[in-house]
Amino acid sequence: MQIYLDHGATTPPRPEVIDTMTAVMQSQWGNPSSLHWWGERSTMIIERSRLQVASLINADPEGIIFTSGGSESDNMAMIGIARQYAQPQHMIISAIEHSAVRIPALFLEQNGWAITRLPVNQQGQVNPEDLAKSIRPNTVLVSIIAAQNEIGTIQPIEKLGQICRNANVLFHTDAVQAIGKLPIDVQAMPIDLLSISAHKFYGTQGIGALYLNPIAHQRSPVTLILGGGQERGYRSGTESVAAIAGFGIAAELAEKELYSESIRLTQLRDRLFTLLADIPELVPTGATGGDRLPHHLSFYHQNYNGRQLVRELNYAGIGISSGSACSSGAIEPSSTLLALGYSEDQAKNSIRITLGKSTTTVDIDWTAQAIHQILQRLDSCPAKN
Ligand SMILES: Cc1ncc(COP(=O)(O)O)c(C=O)c1O
Repeated sequence: MQIYLDHGATTPPRPEVIDTMTAVMQSQWGNPSSLHWWGERSTMIIERSRLQVASLINADPEGIIFTSGGSESDNMAMIGIARQYAQPQHMIISAIEHSAVRIPALFLEQNGWAITRLPVNQQGQVNPEDLAKSIRPNTVLVSIIAAQNEIGTIQPIEKLGQICRNANVLFHTDAVQAIGKLPIDVQAMPIDLLSISAHKFYGTQGIGALYLNPIAHQRSPVTLILGGGQERGYRSGTESVAAIAGFGIAAELAEKELYSESIRLTQLRDRLFTLLADIPELVPTGATGGDRLPHHLSFYHQNYNGRQLVRELNYAGIGISSGSACSSGAIEPSSTLLALGYSEDQAKNSIRITLGKSTTTVDIDWTAQAIHQILQRLDSCPAKN
């Protein structure tokens, strides 16, 4: 039996996506920039997908720019806006951003920009008052992750965005983990820029979008990829028509299933939390209940390294992930867990379990049993970690 519980890393492309992409690759492979029939058909596919993706977040389709995924969208938001300015200014991010925001912020800092990293509480939430106090006259962008990939915590995005709107500062959110799990309405919420990635909701890897509202358009972020001027000049390069088509159908189906899947996954998630609650050494991290992504569980173990637990579960046929990263041969603790106030050891011992469309009650019960058995076996061995 194999159980994939790492949907936060990537999701398998759903059959409708594979069918759509296969059909497009077989018969609609024209270059969308070409003026002939083949090109026009590809353009129509792209524009239909733009409508589908826009609908998922209730956006004006004009605001959707297709990119190669979440990382490019985040880079485009941060560096694209920064390149508007002749002199370095100020940006604000949270202390628990994904590296696709964290590293561009570091890059800007190395180039003279001032960067404020807002602290979070032990659940991983930013305090809106801290944001309000951090805005300076030269703050040009605030970027706060909508739902955190390692700990599943959902931020008070509406409050944070409203503070930015009141201060006339652009607000970007990396919604890569939130899209398809949480209702996001960019017209009702004060969001100026938003990053999306298709492979987190059953599209394919290598395709995503940056949403820009008219306010962000007016401050014209500068393109990162120069060339033929596709995507209205924001993103040059021949579009991956098949991937965009798959993205569109994945978005349409995610919108249809959003509420039913969220309820189903929340029940499964809570079932697994309950089944593991009798292991005192396995301590949940991040937020609880409604402030947590419906498919997301995270823990640290008091004794065992997260990577060791991932390996042990892998031997049992179960795929999960750890929060620690391997850098230059050394195990780096999760910077997110450190920002939440956990020790280096706790941060190295973190794991994440993320459920998905294929997850059943049987998978949950099997996984809980496997975790119990693995920990009992490790506990009975003298060498720990
Ligand atoms: C929160 C978050 N932002 C950005 C990314 C990067 O997205 P992509 O893999 O599409 O570049 C990820 C991927 O794990 C993510 O979880």
